[in-house]
Amino acid sequence: MIVNTELEQKGNLFPSQIIDYSKDVDQLFFHTENDVVLQITILRDSVLRFRYTTTGTFENDFSYAITQYASTGYNRLDIKENETHYVITTSKLICKVAKKDLHISLYDALDETLLCDDELGFHWEENYEFGGNVVKMSKVINDRESYYGLGDKPDHLNLKGKRFQNWATDSYAYGKETDPIYKAIPFYTGLHHNKAYGIFFDNSFRSFFDFGGERRNVTSFWAHGGEMNYYFIYGPKMQDVVENYTDLTGKPHQLPPLWALGFHQCKWSYYPESEVKEITSKFRELQIPCDAIYLDIDYMDGFRCFTWNKEHFPDPKRMVKELADDGFKTVAIIDPGIKIDKDYSVFTEALEKDYFCKRADGPYMKGKVWPGECYFPDFTNPEVRDWWSGLFQELIEDIGIKGVWNDMNEPAVMEVPNKTFPNDVRHDYDGNPCSHRKAHNIYGMQMARATYQGLKKFNYPKRPFVITRSAYSGTQRYTSTWTGDNVATWEHLGIANIQAQRMAMSGFSFVGSDIGGFAEQPQGELFTRWIQLGIFHPFCRVHSSGDHGDQEPWAFDEDVTDICRKFIELRYQLLPYLYTCFWNLVEHGTPILQSLVMFDQEDHQTHYRTDEFIFGDKILVCPIQEPNAKGRRMYIPRGQWYNYWTDELVEGGKEKWVDAEIDSMPIFIKEGAIIPKYPVQQYVGEKEIKELSLDVYYKEGKERSTLFDDAHDGYDYTKGRFSLRTFQLNGKNKELIIRQHKEGKYTTTYETFKFNIHGLPFNVKEVELDDEVISLKYIEADGTLSMVIDKNFNTIHIKGK
Ligand code: GLC
Repeated sequence: MIVNTELEQKGNLFPSQIIDYSKDVDQLFFHTENDVVLQITILRDSVLRFRYTTTGTFENDFSYAITQYASTGYNRLDIKENETHYVITTSKLICKVAKKDLHISLYDALDETLLCDDELGFHWEENYEFGGNVVKMSKVINDRESYYGLGDKPDHLNLKGKRFQNWATDSYAYGKETDPIYKAIPFYTGLHHNKAYGIFFDNSFRSFFDFGGERRNVTSFWAHGGEMNYYFIYGPKMQDVVENYTDLTGKPHQLPPLWALGFHQCKWSYYPESEVKEITSKFRELQIPCDAIYLDIDYMDGFRCFTWNKEHFPDPKRMVKELADDGFKTVAIIDPGIKIDKDYSVFTEALEKDYFCKRADGPYMKGKVWPGECYFPDFTNPEVRDWWSGLFQELIEDIGIKGVWNDMNEPAVMEVPNKTFPNDVRHDYDGNPCSHRKAHNIYGMQMARATYQGLKKFNYPKRPFVITRSAYSGTQRYTSTWTGDNVATWEHLGIANIQAQRMAMSGFSFVGSDIGGFAEQPQGELFTRWIQLGIFHPFCRVHSSGDHGDQEPWAFDEDVTDICRKFIELRYQLLPYLYTCFWNLVEHGTPILQSLVMFDQEDHQTHYRTDEFIFGDKILVCPIQEPNAKGRRMYIPRGQWYNYWTDELVEGGKEKWVDAEIDSMPIFIKEGAIIPKYPVQQYVGEKEIKELSLDVYYKEGKERSTLFDDAHDGYDYTKGRFSLRTFQLNGKNKELIIRQHKEGKYTTTYETFKFNIHGLPFNVKEVELDDEVISLKYIEADGTLSMVIDKNFNTIHIKGK
């Protein structure tokens, strides 16, 4: 027998017989003989919270992850008792609680499928060294169950058979097997019998998840402190699980400014000013669209945050303005380590105000980062966050920086074996004082939150843009993120693909990788293939360490430049589509990237697919992840898909070879889709968009597409000044009907739609616009029918001969 060292040690303790049950509105309490209390909260018909204490009383109920805006309320709640169990029924779930030992079994309320059953269930081990418990949970793995989620793990998309750890860690040049890395997102989705549920273990201590790695039939999770406190989220669709998890932990607080969805160029570091300008001018000269340019740590004076190296950047305000005049938004890095220097006001102020983290016995937490010895603000103190947000006034309001990039916030400490703070460091934890064991995983999140507050305040009425490296569940409310210090290898191109998909499945869609690889230098071919993937990631930025050569789109040969331009242009054309995806994320929590398993969980072929994914809900992409490829085999999900380049219609549900020379990549459009497109711009707002293209892909049957638009920045959209158009496509044998439904008070800059209708299987006899036959100028070329129509149309009816 394999002995699970964590789970089956002798010291495990278990709940005993229930002796008391009570109910307080939506909270149920089960007391056992040995002082264990299980609290079950009915948040929604499909969301239950399980919380255990072993001492008879609960800790203060506080979480950084759960948003105050989470929806609550259920349609049905019945509680029955029989000889052996309490049975709780909502309109979606049945939950049985065993009287003898608190064993939990969860069933689908409609067909009574067993969804998730405790194995040992809740148990714990007393932690003599630190006090409190190591809290543990184990569940039975169902027949052919698969597992997804857990944030930024670089491993295979399906987590089955593996064990992982959550402890945010600076991981330069990590590999596929490296665990943990930068983020701690203790949320996973299980899928079996075509039904998906999620488990969010809201515990910020070092935590572990084992998906049948130790024992083939057991999934377990445990943490080195805190409470066993988890949310069970039922789908049965994976997308509903992720949307409900996102509802619980928060959607982004506002849309990003549209420019943030453009192309970003970064390097460690562009300096002095003349080099920054050289880079930005080159983009314009070569007509490669770009919206953002980055300043890495070398813009600072001796790596002191909120200062400038005046030799390299004599007049930052003027520079930022000149860049802005050329369409570039400047993004600057800010790290948590504050240099110990009595002549540096940020340091002296924080010292005076007692804002730095301290060791258990009183000394400051001292550690080396870029500037040398540093102290670190305690971002878990709300007063410190306020102070920190105020530090951005000059950078944002006065100098005009448009975005802030938070790095090293795991927090990373150099030249120490554990790469971070020691466990004894004290934190405020918003009035729940604790050690670093509890605060470590949320430190980066709270830093990003404080930065976000600063940007929000000083950039107002424009929207904030923040990037973070470390994150805990809920961080998606404040910021975007990237996958950290990857490497310029083909394997890492594949890892970036998996990580971005996994992050989207973990409720954090605004994600991208360092395109081309941070460490080492890519060949032109690898860089090109990575750009092709990167334009389909919500955050699209080239970044590199700079130690190994240049990584701008022109740093290779001319072919590479041309292909990069072509794909970055495609990104800019797709901006209205991507912006609509962001609106769906902010409004409904809908992930922007869908792995095939999320797109079609009932097709078992999708459960182990990793390379293909759906960008939004209509575009299927599959990057080329090997050198010298002229195409690749890929799985096309069920349904019919148009090859983006050739308009060839292919039937899915099988693997297929798809041609993709270096200037191409496999891209397919779902039949029936209406894809909105902009003309190419060199940066967002360069042109006033007078006409929007709508690429329609004929389908026999119905399909719905949406198009969101607003002022692309600011908060007016929250007051109804947006334009939301829903297009209902209905294709028949010799007819195609498109109906438009309009909502919102925003007047779009575009007056007309240019329809490009692909795949029409008949010749056009006539076109009716709002029930009147119109004499339309239309062009039929290469099988595409094009026509320009007023944006306010209600119905277009194309009739065939
Ligand atoms: C870290 C970051 C990297 C950045 C570098 C210097 O390694 O992950 O993106 O360029 O620090 O600031």
